[in-house]
Amino acid sequence: GPVAEAPRPLAGRHVLITAGPTHEPIDPVRYIANRSSGKQGFAIAAAAAKSGARVTLVSGPVNLPTPPGVTRVDVETARQMAAAVDAALPADIAIMVAAVADWRSAGEATQKIKKDGSGAPPPLQLVENPDILATLCKSDRRPPLVIGFAAETNDVIAHATAKLARKGADWIVANDVATHTMGGDINRLHIVSAAGVESLPELHKDAAAAALIEKVVDVLAR
Ligand code: CTP
Ligand code: CA
Repeated sequence: GPVAEAPRPLAGRHVLITAGPTHEPIDPVRYIANRSSGKQGFAIAAAAAKSGARVTLVSGPVNLPTPPGVTRVDVETARQMAAAVDAALPADIAIMVAAVADWRSAGEATQKIKKDGSGAPPPLQLVENPDILATLCKSDRRPPLVIGFAAETNDVIAHATAKLARKGADWIVANDVATHTMGGDINRLHIVSAAGVESLPELHKDAAAAALIEKVVDVLAR
């Protein structure tokens, strides 16, 4: 018989997603990074596309295939990610999953930094990167639904609740990276919003993504 058409509850919506780490160059051969694999963000992009959304995925350096139906923009640094997010607006929903490097080197060396023989390490000055999520929330092009992520090792809900207010996001999705190591396939998400905390069970990142997108669809339908 005829194949039933999959429901497309996000048809006509533009979903903007950031994923992966950023790499902040120190010199031509070295950079500052973190352990983000990009898996959860890519899974969310795939789930949003499956639900019929137009999806822009701004990705830091990861080793993952682009999900079907997703427009991918590759970036390296936090500042490039900020520019790519801005260029992708307007969006109906923003989901900022990227583990943006908090700091970059104050002055990127144009040549490889060499040991000088004294045994003393080079002074590495750091400066804070722009906060892409907080900037988006304050912008006059703020999407109607903005979702941040927070990887925490301790006091997960308390830190996420503080971030919700500090960033101006509608939801902060917290995950405990002490029990679920970054880079793994399983996640336990806690969705923190003004309505309270909804904790999902331990799920494969694909299933966690589907559950999050289902909640987005529910909220938009209200
Ligand atoms: N984020 C961002 N730009 C940054 C830092 C963070 O857009 N420069 C976003 C992340 O993508 C995530 C949310 O902000 O959606 C929370 O990131 P997190 O690193 O947990 O927050 P920070 O404010 O950097 O706090 P912390 O000191 O705990 O790292
Ligand atoms: Ca951070």
